[in-house]
Amino acid sequence: MSGAKVALGERLFFERRLSVSGQYSCASCHEPAHSFAQDRPVAIGATGEALPHNAMALVNVAYNISFGWMRPRVRSLEAQMLEPMLNEHPVELGLKGREAAVCAQLAADRAYADDFAAAFPGDPAPVTFEHVVKAIASFERTLVSGGSPFDRYVFGGEHEALSGQAKQGMALFFSRRAGCSGCHSGFNFSGNWRDAQGETGPASFARNGTSARPMRVPTLRNVALTAPYMHDGRFASLTAVLDHYSSLGACRSASATRAVLRCRAQRAARVPGQPHR
Ligand code: HEC
Ligand code: HEC
Repeated sequence: MSGAKVALGERLFFERRLSVSGQYSCASCHEPAHSFAQDRPVAIGATGEALPHNAMALVNVAYNISFGWMRPRVRSLEAQMLEPMLNEHPVELGLKGREAAVCAQLAADRAYADDFAAAFPGDPAPVTFEHVVKAIASFERTLVSGGSPFDRYVFGGEHEALSGQAKQGMALFFSRRAGCSGCHSGFNFSGNWRDAQGETGPASFARNGTSARPMRVPTLRNVALTAPYMHDGRFASLTAVLDHYSSLGACRSASATRAVLRCRAQRAARVPGQPHR
C-alpha cells in the first residue's frame, strides 16, 4: 500500500466517470462529512433506483472481517467493491459491461495515466479495472479514526477527556444491565471483535429488534455523524435509537400483565442473547 496508490484511490473514490451517468461516484453515497455514510434512510443509485439499505460508514472499515449489512461471505474490500460497481438490480454505479471503456477513458487522461504509472510501477499498461479496485481499496484502508475523547480517556489516561455524564453513559454501555457492549464490542464497538477471538461469521451478526434476519452489528465510531440509523435508516436520531432499546429493556424487566402482553407482542423484537429478567 504505497502513498501513490492511496492518492490514486482517493481521486478515484470521488471520480464521477466511474458511473453510468457520469454524475456519480463512491462519495455520492459515502460522504466524508458523514463519516463516509449518508444522511438519507436508503441509498439511491446512479439511475435513481432505491437500494434496500442505508449506506454504511466507511470509517475504520479496514478492521472489518465481513462487509455489508447481511453478507457474512463478502470478506475483502476488493470483493465488496464489485457490488457497487457492477450491481444491476438495483444499479449503484452501473459499470457492468463498461469496465474496459471506463479504463480507456482514464488512460487517455494524462494526469490519470501518470498516477496509475506511479501507483503500479513497472506495469506497461497500468490502467486496468483490477488496479482501479486495488487503488480504491488502499484509500479505504486509510480511513482510520481514533483519538476520540473515549480513546484519550481509556488509552491515554486523560481523566478530563470525558465529561461526568459521558462517564456515566460509558459505565451503562459496558454494564450487564444495558448490555450494549455484548454486541458493540472491541475497538470499533462493532460485531467483529468476537470473530477475532476465533469465532467466525455469525458472531458479527445479531437481531436487535429491527429485522427478522440478523444484521451486521455496525460500528458506533463517529456515530453522531451517521444518522439516520439501522440497515434501513428507520431512526432519524440517536434518541430514537435509545427509545427503541429502552422499549426492549422494559419488555424484559416488567412483570405486570399489560407489560407481559406487550412483551408477547414484541417477542420477535426481543434482544437475543439477553435473558429475561
Ligand atoms: C448508490 C449508493 C452507493 C454507492 C455509489 C456506493 N456505495 Fe458502498 N454502500 C452502499 C450501501 C447501501 C451499503 C450497504 C450495503 C448492504 O449491505 O446492503 C454500502 C456498503 C459499502 C461497504 C461495506 C462497509 C462495511 O462496513 O461493511 C463498503 C466498503 C463500501 N460500500 C464501499 C464503496 C465503494 C468503494 C464505492 C465506490 C466504488 C461504493 N461503496 C459505492 C451504497 C453505495
Ligand atoms: C443483540 C445485539 C445488540 C445489542 C445488545 C445492542 N445492539 Fe445496537 N445494534 C445491533 C445491531 C444488529 C444493529 C443494526 C440493526 C439494523 O441495522 O437494523 C445495531 C445498531 C445500533 C445503532 C445504529 C448504528 C448505525 O450506524 O446505524 C446504534 C446507535 C446502536 N445499535 C446502539 C446500541 C446501544 C446504545 C445499545 C445498548 C443500549 C445497543 N446498541 C445494544 C446489535 C445490538
